Amino acid sequence: MTDPTLSALDLPAFNPGCVWLVGAGPGDPGLLTLLALHALRQADHIVYDALVDDRILGLANPAAVKEFAGKRGGRPSPAQEDISLRLVELGRQGLRVLRLKAGDPFVFGRGGEEALALVAAGLPFRVVPGITAGLAGPAYAGIPATHRTANQAVILVTGQSAGDGPDWAALAATRAPLILYMAWRGLGGIAQALQDGGLPPDTAVAVICDATTPRQRVLTSTLGACARDLGASDLAPPAIIVIGAIAELRGTLNWLGVADA
Ligand SMILES: C[S@@+](CC[C@H](N)C(=O)[O-])C[C@H]1O[C@@H](n2cnc3c(N)ncnc32)[C@H](O)[C@@H]1O
Repeated sequence: MTDPTLSALDLPAFNPGCVWLVGAGPGDPGLLTLLALHALRQADHIVYDALVDDRILGLANPAAVKEFAGKRGGRPSPAQEDISLRLVELGRQGLRVLRLKAGDPFVFGRGGEEALALVAAGLPFRVVPGITAGLAGPAYAGIPATHRTANQAVILVTGQSAGDGPDWAALAATRAPLILYMAWRGLGGIAQALQDGGLPPDTAVAVICDATTPRQRVLTSTLGACARDLGASDLAPPAIIVIGAIAELRGTLNWLGVADA
C-alpha cells in the first residue's frame, strides 16, 4: 500500500523475510511514529499484543494477516519462546513480519528477547521505538516526568518481575520519582515497602488508567492511602503509577481537563 506522504520521506524498505519490532505507542493513534505507520502499510503479517489499540490495527494494509499474541479474558498468554519462534517461522517464509507491541518494544516489552531469537536464527530485523506508556501516560495526566525544581532523575520500574523483584528500599533511598508499570496487583506491598524504605506516607501518587485513550482516568492519592483508594474505586488496569512530587503537578497542569476518578 503506497502512501504519497510516506513515500516522500524516503523511509527504509520493509523487505520480504525481514522482521520489524515496532512500538505502537500507548494508545492514542496520533502518537504513532511515521515509521510505525509505514510498517503497518507494508507488512504481510502482523503479530500484535493485547494493549495495541484497535484504531492502530485499522491502519494496517487490509491484506495483512493479523495474529493476536497477547493475554485476553484471563487466559494465559502464549509463552514468550513460542512468540519468538513464530516470528522466526514467519520470517523464514519470506514475509514482511511486523511484531507490533504496546508502547516501546524495548521498555518492559520483551523486545530484546525477540531480537535475540532473530539474531540466533540469522534473520534481518529492525527496531522501531514507540512512545512508552510510562512517559506518555503522565504527560496526558499533566505530570512532567522531570521538573527542574522537583527531580533530576526519574526511575521506570516494573511492579512484576521474573526474579526477586526490585529493591524497593534502595529505590526509596534515591528519592527520585518512580514510574511503575505492571504494578496494579502489587501496589499495596510496594507502597508499604517504599514507606519502610523511608518515603513519607504523604508522598503524592497518581494512578493513570488507559492512558492516552478516550477511556483515560486518573486517581490521585498518597503513598499511605493509594492501595485503599484504588481498591475502593471502580478503576481497572492497565495503569501507570507515578510516585513522587512530580505527581502533585497534575493539580495545576491537567490540560486534558478530565477530573480525577
Ligand atoms: C508488558 S508492559 C508493556 C509496556 C510497553 N512496552 C510500553 O513501553 O509502554 C504492560 C504495562 O504497561 C503499562 N501500560 C501500557 N499501556 C498502557 C496504557 N495505555 N495505560 C496505562 N498503562 C499502560 C501498564 O502498566 C501495563 O501493565
